[in-house]
Amino acid sequence: MRVLVTGAAGSIGRVLTPGLVDRGHEVVGLDRVPAPDGNDGPWHLVDAADPDAVAAVFAEERLDAVVHLAGYPGEGSLPDSLTSHVVTTAALLDAMVEHDVRRLVYASSNHAVGRTPRTDLLTTTTRPRPDTFYGVGKVAAEAVMSLYADRYGLDAVACRIGSFLPEPETVRHLSTWLSHDDCVRMVEASLTTPAPGFAALYGISANTRGWWDLEAGRALGYDPQDDAEEFADRIDRRDADDAEAAHVGGPFATEEFYRSALDRA
Ligand SMILES: NC(=O)c1ccc[n+]([C@@H]2O[C@H](COP(=O)([O-])OP(=O)(O)OC[C@H]3O[C@@H](n4cnc5c(N)ncnc54)[C@H](O)[C@@H]3O)[C@@H](O)[C@H]2O)c1
Repeated sequence: MRVLVTGAAGSIGRVLTPGLVDRGHEVVGLDRVPAPDGNDGPWHLVDAADPDAVAAVFAEERLDAVVHLAGYPGEGSLPDSLTSHVVTTAALLDAMVEHDVRRLVYASSNHAVGRTPRTDLLTTTTRPRPDTFYGVGKVAAEAVMSLYADRYGLDAVACRIGSFLPEPETVRHLSTWLSHDDCVRMVEASLTTPAPGFAALYGISANTRGWWDLEAGRALGYDPQDDAEEFADRIDRRDADDAEAAHVGGPFATEEFYRSALDRA
């Protein structure tokens, strides 16, 4: 497949790009910063929140699918979060409709349901329950994807990623870790599974301590192979661990992240 990867210069993009190329895909990079050293593929220096600039990329490139990673992966004001996550997703979806590109894979987040209290099993049918304005942005981006899947018959897979890291660093990560290799497996399955329509999955590895349902991902062909438990001996307990275990979103669901929605001058 010829895949546009937005946010290709970021931490996930720098792993995913060679991962997809190794699996026989062609990657077209898009970011608002230049391509990292070693990335010799086509590159578009574009703000994904600018619909004209995004449309120009689609007019220039032949594309089979889009993997949308571009966005600020942390808390901000509500308007900034909406621009970073919802406006970018909408700009891409409009260009996809215009140019008949039929598949979007989106880096959503556990923070879309981050305020859900700890349960035995978190399913993908749980109600939207963001823990931050960042999470609100992810919920709204998923809603736009669902709308375009219903209106235009697009396939749109929201990967609610946990903690993408080389290795887990905290007790929470022993449940929420997504390994580099499993991330590539997750995205490739989401790109190639037949006719998913709108679908959501949890982007974590096959962690022994995981409590987010992997069945929705398995139904889409995502078969995680790694387990954070392998690193458990190296992780020291911290005072914050109990508070972080109370909700899906861990630290993002704690008072430390409370702030007003709108930055006022
Ligand atoms: N890293 C994680 O554990 C994690 C967990 C859940 C969700 N996610 C989501 O995955 C995506 C990628 O995360 P990451 O960890 O690689 O973040 P990152 O900050 O390392 O990379 C994001 C990249 O997107 C680019 N970018 C941001 N806004 C842009 C815009 N408007 N136009 C063009 N480029 C833009 C940045 O320049 C950067 O290169 C984000 O949407 C994030 O919310 C990440």
